[in-house]
Amino acid sequence: MKLFVYYSNSGNGDYVANIMKDKGFDILKIEPVKDLPKNFYLKILVGGFSALIKEKPKLKNNLSVLNNYSEIYVGTPVWNNRISCPINTVIDVLKNKKFNLICYSGSGKSKGVVDQLKNYKVETIISLTEPLKYKEEAKVVLDKYIK
Ligand SMILES: Cc1cc2nc3c(=O)[nH]c(=O)nc-3n(C[C@H](O)[C@H](O)[C@H](O)COP(=O)(O)O)c2cc1C
Repeated sequence: MKLFVYYSNSGNGDYVANIMKDKGFDILKIEPVKDLPKNFYLKILVGGFSALIKEKPKLKNNLSVLNNYSEIYVGTPVWNNRISCPINTVIDVLKNKKFNLICYSGSGKSKGVVDQLKNYKVETIISLTEPLKYKEEAKVVLDKYIK
């Protein structure tokens, strides 16, 4: 059983989820109890700061289903060069389990994300640049890593 568990605020993660679904993954979209503000500037401010202090927000999802899967890919947007806060809550639950990470961002791989994963059992980190905008490129990268 394989799962793609992810968060998306503006659709890039949803595009990745569609590709993962085609690859036979079950999909779990993470919904925080309180999402980012709609206003762009507030969004960057609130998201950027909460990522900086590594907030772990409450989620609407029941994460106990993660135990049912032997192969897990976690999808996160990059916020302020870090993992997005809703996904901080998810990887906390995966502390003792192997998983893979797919991050999507405006500028590709972020050293901050890699640093944050030092104490986790992460096997592969896949980095995509704005998959909604660069659809073909995203698909090529995902096809390379995930059969
Ligand atoms: C709060 C916030 C902070 C962001 N910080 C970064 C950043 O540090 N570096 C970057 O390349 N992109 C940054 N972005 C852009 C997103 O990572 C990028 O648009 C991503 O594809 C969004 O995924 P989504 O549409 O699934 O939410 C940020 C976006 C938000 C909302």
